[in-house]
Amino acid sequence: MPKLEIEQFACLSDNYAVLIHDPEAGVTASIDAPDGKAILARLKAKGWTLTHLLITHHHGDHTGGNLQLKQETGCSIIGPKAEADRIPGIDREVAEGDVVAFGNFEIKVLETPGHTLGHVSYFIPAAKVAFVGDTLFALGAGRIFEGNAEMMWKSLQKIMRLPMDTEIYCGHEYTEANAKFALTLEPNNQALVNRAQDVDRLRRENKPTLPTRLDRELETNPFLRPNVTAIRAKLGMLYAPDWHVFAAIRERKNKS
Ligand SMILES: [Fe+2]
Repeated sequence: MPKLEIEQFACLSDNYAVLIHDPEAGVTASIDAPDGKAILARLKAKGWTLTHLLITHHHGDHTGGNLQLKQETGCSIIGPKAEADRIPGIDREVAEGDVVAFGNFEIKVLETPGHTLGHVSYFIPAAKVAFVGDTLFALGAGRIFEGNAEMMWKSLQKIMRLPMDTEIYCGHEYTEANAKFALTLEPNNQALVNRAQDVDRLRRENKPTLPTRLDRELETNPFLRPNVTAIRAKLGMLYAPDWHVFAAIRERKNKS
């Protein structure tokens, strides 16, 4: 089984940059381009040459480094077809079901709209790793800027159907605030209580709380748990459809 090396590091105020590298094939991809300069520095430190840039959505804190990276490395920029006109330097437009060849690996494109209308996530089955941009966060979910709650819920469900042990990389470090909010909905979820303590400790030590894993999110992330009776009871929505409960959780978090 080929090996995939993954390098995650913080940049800008709370973004994560992630580099993936197939040492056998000598290819390297960056997931999004929050900070071109920081990404170039890390590539240099690792001795890796950027060949691919995989963009999840058009927001400036995910595409700001596109042109600099392309100019300096000649990398190929891959991004969502639905928002191609807003992704600087895009070379290849991708949509649901498309596969991007990356050395010994195949990268599958999942359309995950809601945060933006064209947002995509990237899943590498052979490495059991997914890059979900601003759709899912550790203990949270992305804000719904362009889509609606039903659309976002469907996108999250797509991620929820990946293998349980999928490692999930997200666009931002928001976990501490998300944990506080999650505890207001499920104070008696022991897995959540334990995780919130782990998150506090990691952040005190200035360590990342990401990547996360799908099974851990399913146990503790309220945005993936609208079917849970305790959450429904808290919101007074015992018999509502899941996506209505999800929408109410999103609303409540927006106001928190
Ligand atoms: Fe965003």
